[in-house]
Amino acid sequence: MEFLFFIATLGLILGLKFMGDAAKAKQGNIIAAISVAVALVGVIIKNYDPTRAGTINIILVVGLLSVATVVGRVLAQRVAMTKMPQLVSVLNGMGGLAAVVIALIEGIAHPIGDDMRATGGLLLLSSVFGGVAFTGSMVAHSKLEGKKLPKATQVHKVMAYALLGAMVLLFAAYMLAPAPFMPFTSLLILVTVLALAYGGLFTLPIGGADMPVLICFLVALHGLVAILAGLFFQDTVMLIGGVLVGAIGLLLTVKMSEAMNRSLGSVLAGKFVSAKGGRSEAEQEIRSISVVETASLLAFSNKVAVIPGYGMAVAQAQRECFALQEKLRENNVELHYIIHPVAGRMPGHMNVLLAEANIPYASVLEMSEVNNTMEHYDTVLVIGANDVVNPAAENDPESSIYGMPIIRAYKAKQVVVMKRSMGKGYSGAVNTLFDRQNCRILFGDAKSSLEEIINELKHI
Ligand code: TAP
Repeated sequence: MEFLFFIATLGLILGLKFMGDAAKAKQGNIIAAISVAVALVGVIIKNYDPTRAGTINIILVVGLLSVATVVGRVLAQRVAMTKMPQLVSVLNGMGGLAAVVIALIEGIAHPIGDDMRATGGLLLLSSVFGGVAFTGSMVAHSKLEGKKLPKATQVHKVMAYALLGAMVLLFAAYMLAPAPFMPFTSLLILVTVLALAYGGLFTLPIGGADMPVLICFLVALHGLVAILAGLFFQDTVMLIGGVLVGAIGLLLTVKMSEAMNRSLGSVLAGKFVSAKGGRSEAEQEIRSISVVETASLLAFSNKVAVIPGYGMAVAQAQRECFALQEKLRENNVELHYIIHPVAGRMPGHMNVLLAEANIPYASVLEMSEVNNTMEHYDTVLVIGANDVVNPAAENDPESSIYGMPIIRAYKAKQVVVMKRSMGKGYSGAVNTLFDRQNCRILFGDAKSSLEEIINELKHI
């Protein structure tokens, strides 16, 4: 059996390694899925109890796993790429909820004596982190869905700190007090309620451009919950799985904080500059550009950069991007894609879309690789990106995204922004790129506009 677990662990690590490379990501996903299946078979065989109750348990577990597999498969096929972050939030939340339910069942069904404080401590921590992951993910899900939530106030923050303090005190008292100060089950239920309330309150003030950091932090929390469950059940595979998810979540959190030029502490504290913005849209003088003009601008450029953003995902315009690249290549125009780490709505969102359209990896560049040489591009085509190219992040201390590193599209010779209207980006900040002298807007759905540009290029 240990050999099965060893294979599953190796498979998980290999799968993750492959997922780090866009060319092998699909294979990585399959390897990781098979490894989880191997681990599940191992757990079922290891815990097989030949009594009637044991057999019923196995039937229940296999039945539920089969239903979950079908539901997961259908969800994966049906959920649009733009809704994937919401799905990830729900899955994160469900992991947290499962941890809470398991902790409550274990803590209530089996008496936890005073001589079992380590076990009791693990259950309390599972409840706390699981509860925070659950309600935190649900609030994050609502924010990503654009649902109306109560506006976070100073009172919410004070309440969140009070709940956090209460949980820390209760946990410390449980672990250190010479004798129990309340029955364990009551303590477990109390701590669970506090954690559920805290999860919602602590996520409420985090939003706008800080969402990517929050999402990654919740993934890390989900990993931590699995580690605690692995320790509780002394299950090595679960422990290793938790460590891997937790480590990835933590690494992503650090990377996303760096990408936003924010400290994790200030993101989690929900501190953000006010969204007043130094300029209003009314003051902006917008120039538009036609499809024909855009096509000739591209055809007579030597170097073109495409900066994709959330709007490209909405329009599902990745295949048209590739078609445009091919068309321009025939005219000896070099095209690069420049990716901002938080473009879209989930880590790697743009990379996944571009890989789906078989765009060559060699033409996909990170923002940091080209930001100091943007003036070398004759034309930059901003396809459904907004916040990640907003110069207000560099020069408007009043803007809500001030301090966030951006792709310096404004430095290119010509900039064409493809968007449907004067709709704002996720952060809601006014974009000061739009009325720069070298910037014009091609209004329309990104996919239709690209198709029209490609058609027009055939006549040039
Ligand atoms: P955004 O700033 O959200 O801007 C997207 C733009 O796409 C909008 O200006 C919208 O304008 C346009 N658009 C929408 N549908 C379109 C369509 N069919 N055709 C053409 N344009 C369309 O996107 P971004 O620049 O990628 O920035 C991402 C933002 O999301 C950042 O603030 C980031 O912090 C936040 N965020 C990121 C993540 C992760 S993990 N990446 C998670 C949560 C939040 P119109 O409405 O006028 O068309």
